[in-house]
Amino acid sequence: MSVRIRPLHPHLFAEVEGIDMRRPLAPDEVAAIEAGMDRHAVLVFHGQDITDEQQVAFSTNFGEIELALGGNITKDADRRLDVKLADISNLDRDNRLFARDDRRRMFNLGNRLWHSDSSFRAVPAKYSLLSARRIPQSGGNTEFADMRAAYDALDDATRAEIEDLVCEHSLLYSRAQLGFTELSEEEQRTFAPVRQRLVRTHPVTGRKSLFLSSHIGTIVGWPMPEARCLIRDLIEHATQREFVHAHVWRQYDLVMWDNRQTMHRARPYDETREARDMRRTTIAGEAPTVAQQAA
Ligand code: OGA
Ligand code: MN
Repeated sequence: MSVRIRPLHPHLFAEVEGIDMRRPLAPDEVAAIEAGMDRHAVLVFHGQDITDEQQVAFSTNFGEIELALGGNITKDADRRLDVKLADISNLDRDNRLFARDDRRRMFNLGNRLWHSDSSFRAVPAKYSLLSARRIPQSGGNTEFADMRAAYDALDDATRAEIEDLVCEHSLLYSRAQLGFTELSEEEQRTFAPVRQRLVRTHPVTGRKSLFLSSHIGTIVGWPMPEARCLIRDLIEHATQREFVHAHVWRQYDLVMWDNRQTMHRARPYDETREARDMRRTTIAGEAPTVAQQAA
């Protein structure tokens, strides 16, 4: 094995060399990648010209695939990719660019808000693996923020205040921030809020982190406006430049991040003129962060 991991930022994000995702991994390679994830929270692998099947096979080394169901408004018949892959592109099933006002494009713009993937699910995601098949000439970076470093930098009073807080997360809340409120009753049922701890502890390293996301709409037991003020302050704190790494994509990069320790967001590009074909496999989390209860 010759996996080499080179950090590119003081807190998070490292570059991996020595992996070819077109072939099966040896157990020591999987272990080296997992150790790299525990430490750096986001890893980039360059030059991975892979098929969807190879992406799924590589991802399966790290846990169960979370199916791309219930996280979007795209109808099954309009799906471009297999249900094991989340479609993070601006393309319809005929590989044509979405029109500027296409409802699916409007909904997908939610990725421009800081978030943690599937924090709106009762069992939130562990890892996400995003493969860049086609990228625009400019723009379309992805930014990552380190929620461990952000937690460490809080003052003692804030840490004590938030230790046991539980938030409600829903796609309805992140989309409402964009003014996207026209959802059918069925969509609203699908996106019913779930509960998540605000502070979580990494199962391997024991490090605490802020479990923040733009999907948060309130804190259990708090008046909503007060909850939103605190969450806004925490997101502002946690996304200061010192905690953030901006990834500039190259074609065939695969970036893998730990949703338990980071937030991320997409940056703009010329979506109505240029194709950006990104495909995401998601590794399911192992347990809820808190007991669920009907909201
Ligand atoms: C995602 C996501 C950001 C981007 O794939 O989960 O939020 O830059 N992507 O496309
Ligand atoms: Mn995302």
